Amino acid sequence: MDKIVSLCKRRGFVFQGSEIYGGFQGFYDYGPLGVEMKNNLKQLWWEWMTVEHDDIVGIDGAIITNPKVWEASGHVKSFVDPLSECKKCHKRFRTDDLAGKKCPECGGELTKPKQFNILVPTQIGVIEGEKVNAYLRGEACQTIYLDYKNVLNTTRLKIPFGICQIGKAFRNEVTPGNFLFRQREFEQWDLQWFCHSSEMEKWFDFWKKERMDWYKNLFTNPERLGFYQHEKLAHYAKKAFDIIYEKSPCEIQEIEGIHWRGDWDLSGHAKYSGQDLSYTDRETKEKFVPQIVETSGGVDRTFLFLLIDAYYEEKDRVVLKLHPKLAPYQAAVFPLLKNKPELVEKAKEIYLNLKKNFKVGWDDRGNIGKRYFAQDEIGTPYCVTVDFESLEDKKVTVRDRDTMKQERINISGIVDYFKNKLDN
Ligand code: GAP
Repeated sequence: MDKIVSLCKRRGFVFQGSEIYGGFQGFYDYGPLGVEMKNNLKQLWWEWMTVEHDDIVGIDGAIITNPKVWEASGHVKSFVDPLSECKKCHKRFRTDDLAGKKCPECGGELTKPKQFNILVPTQIGVIEGEKVNAYLRGEACQTIYLDYKNVLNTTRLKIPFGICQIGKAFRNEVTPGNFLFRQREFEQWDLQWFCHSSEMEKWFDFWKKERMDWYKNLFTNPERLGFYQHEKLAHYAKKAFDIIYEKSPCEIQEIEGIHWRGDWDLSGHAKYSGQDLSYTDRETKEKFVPQIVETSGGVDRTFLFLLIDAYYEEKDRVVLKLHPKLAPYQAAVFPLLKNKPELVEKAKEIYLNLKKNFKVGWDDRGNIGKRYFAQDEIGTPYCVTVDFESLEDKKVTVRDRDTMKQERINISGIVDYFKNKLDN
């Protein structure tokens, strides 16, 4: 874990939030390479959901909603973590995380667990005394339930169908920690699948498998992924499985939850808002409140598990064997020597041509060996070198990150060459 944290900082994947002020616990910033990789990851998820599935559409809901939403959802009452405080050093712990009855820091006596609500409150309005108490959303998915009728009325969807969203969630975690795993501000990707109660079991199993297959396709070592079935369920869930990364360096293994939410949310919002949130089947005329299967994953956790999974130390190099579609750069272009204008000019031409189709990096510092290692460490799958021979034979050397094998390819066919490589 320390190596990953250090790599993330050294190469600009992730920085501590508010670092110049000593940081702020539970908040992080993505750097230049991190944001590219995170955007690639979100793009893959979004396209898989909305392009590959005809019956799923997306929304982008507000972070702050009418505060009644969180009463209706049960979060004001039940979104709690048990918290114990050390009577000696006054450090606070999630009771769930404690192995014994003593403070893990100083051995002091602990208070009895108190229930602590982890919704993040805020105030909206300008005039003191008239401000409205609201919450930053504790789970991104609530806006999907709020917009469910609007989506139905503005699309041709009929049950079964899905609404998906990627967005921020906020939780006043008692013990944020383990880098990106438990933050106070993080991003979730959710699918809410609306179906008839008679088909709930079928769709639950379907999405459990679909989501696992999606993750397996992205991880370098898919055999390290597994399922964990929850016995202790969240207030809204009737059945829940986690997709987990079994080689996690900390106690947190969960990447995504597959939750049987039933009609908990729509019935709750119907009751609190006074609106009819039922659905009428156009053919059978049956009127019912749809049941919901949720797949809710953490973008930041997935990002971190992918880095951990792709991290290899091989002899004298560190290499991130990331899926080529996730890597911040899909290729990097180098002129063999930076003080030879004819090499730089040719390399720039190739770089600009490739950039029209792929995410491409440029490096002309140090020697070729160092450039290869620098690109390996950030996961760039291919490096292209322009040397003196390139000016004669119109070919470049392409070096593969994982095998370190090199081959000469024609400059004229370079875009197609990478299209073939990167589509597989
Ligand atoms: N809508 C359901 C829901 O929010 P959850 O299991 O509480 O379910 C879903 O959260 C996912 O969000 C988790 O599987 C995890 O990947 C991510 N997540 C939850 N809390 C997090 C935190 N404090 N920091 C980072 N990611 C978190």
